[in-house]
Amino acid sequence: MRRTLIAGNWKMNLSRAEATELAKGVAAAKPGENTDVLVCPSNVYLDAVSTSVAGSSVAVGGQDVYFESGGAFTGETSTDMLKDVGCSYVILGHSERRNVIGECDKLINKKLHAALAAGLTPVLCVGELLEERESGKTTEVVRGQITGSLADVSADQMAKVVIAYEPVWAIGTGKTASPEQAQEVHADIRKMLADQYNEDTAGNVQILYGGSVKPDNAKELLGQADIDGALVGGASLKPDSFAAIIAAGN
Ligand code: 13P
Repeated sequence: MRRTLIAGNWKMNLSRAEATELAKGVAAAKPGENTDVLVCPSNVYLDAVSTSVAGSSVAVGGQDVYFESGGAFTGETSTDMLKDVGCSYVILGHSERRNVIGECDKLINKKLHAALAAGLTPVLCVGELLEERESGKTTEVVRGQITGSLADVSADQMAKVVIAYEPVWAIGTGKTASPEQAQEVHADIRKMLADQYNEDTAGNVQILYGGSVKPDNAKELLGQADIDGALVGGASLKPDSFAAIIAAGN
């Protein structure tokens, strides 16, 4: 049985004091037995947040990482640096990095291999733009992103990869994909992984949904057969709403 992962992506929000306060609130939440909790603050607060959740079961992750191990790469962060400040996960290929910063599948794939080699669990984000959905290209776009981002990843390595389906039109807009729309894409991702790898590998991969997940829609989304958790933006910035989503994972 797949575990549930409720992850908070804090994006470029919060001060140091707010981040550590929120982290303490999240550490006090009581996830169900089958639920894991992850928070992904800004890089500059990773160390402080790791200290705030120390002793709890809450995991900490970066929002991105570079694929080189060190050297002259101004502004970048290595996998070892993330591990050094308490990270066990890293978000990769978030739609804001794909569409605002301009990252492509090839770069994301290099980062994913670096994360796996370092023992960090990558949370690989995929998802279509509104115009792609409206022109019937959702499956093609998501499959393309998965193929490109997971190039040369073995079945064994897939056991350590988490996928997050985040339709871009649902991020920060209050427009959630309906549970049926989300389930349809999640099931297709799993089918694709079964064809590419095998049924076991596909059956074990955690696939999270992200995009306007809130306390009032979390239960229904998480109740879908192929939805194994949530990647939460706005609603993860308040301890009460994030705790309610964590509780919905039980
Ligand atoms: P919102 O929950 O604010 O829509 O953000 C989703 C997201 O991008 C999480 O990575």
